Amino acid sequence: MFCPGLPLARKRLRAVETRVQSHAEVKFQDIRLYLVEKKMGSSRRNFLTHLARSKGFCVEDVLSNEVTHVVSEDHQASALWAWLKGRGLKDPLKTQVLDISWFTDSMGAGKPVAVESRHLILDTLPILQDSTPTPVTVSQYACQRRTTLENHNKIFTDAFEVLAENYEFNEIAGQCLAFRRAASVLKSLPWVVERLRAVQDMPWLGDHTQGVIKEILQCGRAFEVEKILSDERYQTLKLFTSVFGVGPKTAEKWYRRGLRSFTDVLAEPSIHLNRMQQSGFLHHGDISMAVSKAEAQALGNIIEEVARAITPAGRLTLTGGFSRGKEFGHDVDFILTTPELGMEEPLLLAVIDRLKQQGILLFCDYHASSFDMGKLPCHRFEAMDHFAKGFLILRLEGSQVEGQELQRAEGDNRGWRAVRVDLVSPPMDRYAFAVLGWTGSRQFERDLRKFARVERKMLLDNHMLYDKTKKQFLEANDEKDIFAHLGLEYTEPWQRNA
Ligand code: UTP
Ligand code: MN
Repeated sequence: MFCPGLPLARKRLRAVETRVQSHAEVKFQDIRLYLVEKKMGSSRRNFLTHLARSKGFCVEDVLSNEVTHVVSEDHQASALWAWLKGRGLKDPLKTQVLDISWFTDSMGAGKPVAVESRHLILDTLPILQDSTPTPVTVSQYACQRRTTLENHNKIFTDAFEVLAENYEFNEIAGQCLAFRRAASVLKSLPWVVERLRAVQDMPWLGDHTQGVIKEILQCGRAFEVEKILSDERYQTLKLFTSVFGVGPKTAEKWYRRGLRSFTDVLAEPSIHLNRMQQSGFLHHGDISMAVSKAEAQALGNIIEEVARAITPAGRLTLTGGFSRGKEFGHDVDFILTTPELGMEEPLLLAVIDRLKQQGILLFCDYHASSFDMGKLPCHRFEAMDHFAKGFLILRLEGSQVEGQELQRAEGDNRGWRAVRVDLVSPPMDRYAFAVLGWTGSRQFERDLRKFARVERKMLLDNHMLYDKTKKQFLEANDEKDIFAHLGLEYTEPWQRNA
């Protein structure tokens, strides 16, 4: 039997049909070739089959669903694909259909070479002939789509995220946003995208994004993405921006100076790290490790206890990704407030002070409140809101986390870890807007503001909702009030993972 891993009955059957290639001769167990005789002719096919087998390749004589690489000299893609499908290939998308150049390159290299765009014989049928209707109409606004954490199209959205990030590093904001929007649309689909036709009429899926989808559908990955992932500049910028306090601008500056690693940065005498970056480097191992839900809850208990000791009216709300149901996050976001207007900022300061006394405040970047209702409405969106807030790093003891070990690197036995925590303190009458703004996701928020502006002539941010037509502020006690003002169906936080 020349290929391992087949069910017995099949093996026996196959032994009759095929020439024997002993187990030991197969060097590349994961791939099974099939050479298409059409255009190639039977004698050349025999010759190539011998050649490949002599180099340790497994070559099937019969086309079956076990075949991973179909090699053809027939360049009429549509005819070739029609023939392949006619031969009953169950899942043609899982099989790579390749030009003879891939085979020649592989024989030259003595091993299967990586498949590249130029090797592919692409199936034009799904694009030209497939008549599957787009089954749903998808809103252009993320706030009108329901997006749970169950992402059926991760293979595409991960690729889009790499492209978006690379555009962000290159400061091409439009393209960056385009890929984030496309990813957001695909995340909202309750089904897997299996053919291009299914996404053709969807919002934000233009030529470039469709090209990427097409490539992934046909060969499992996109070359543009692979190229970025192996790019030194991308890898370095990704590494540098993983440090708390280092944004794309600083990362780029360091890269341009020839720095490639943390050691390079730390050894460079002319670089002056600010306080945030110093803490970022100091706690990088911990902070770059995901925070679990149990850890987030433990931190909530600690902060709540501290706040209650200061005032029984203190109220702490978990927001951000964890309030959308995420199991892991990069930080923990809390809103801290009190019904007594004007007392929220002193409360936040007192809480931070107590955390410091307890010895668990490893870092604090405090931003005093610059909130002034008299200066609203603000017509342009600002990345940071005006509420009092602290960007903290807290020390969490393993013993404080219920029923679970701390997330930590292998071999780390310290018994504690550092966690990034954001604490925001809006006045109670701004609470609903602050919760809505901090629950996220970023894309959901972006589209909520855009929807308000474009569709309703209203201004929305973390502080307020303003009706430009009526020239009045619209008040809200909770998030539901805000959705109602906007004439939007209420969307639960776990449906906002856009
Ligand atoms: P995060 O960056 O914490 O993201 O911002 P996340 O959704 O919780 O995901 P991970 O797990 O931590 O990575 C949470 C929300 O808070 C808003 C952001 O827009 C986002 O929607 N935010 C953040 C503000 O409104 N203002 C800020 O200054 C920071
Ligand atoms: Mn967060």
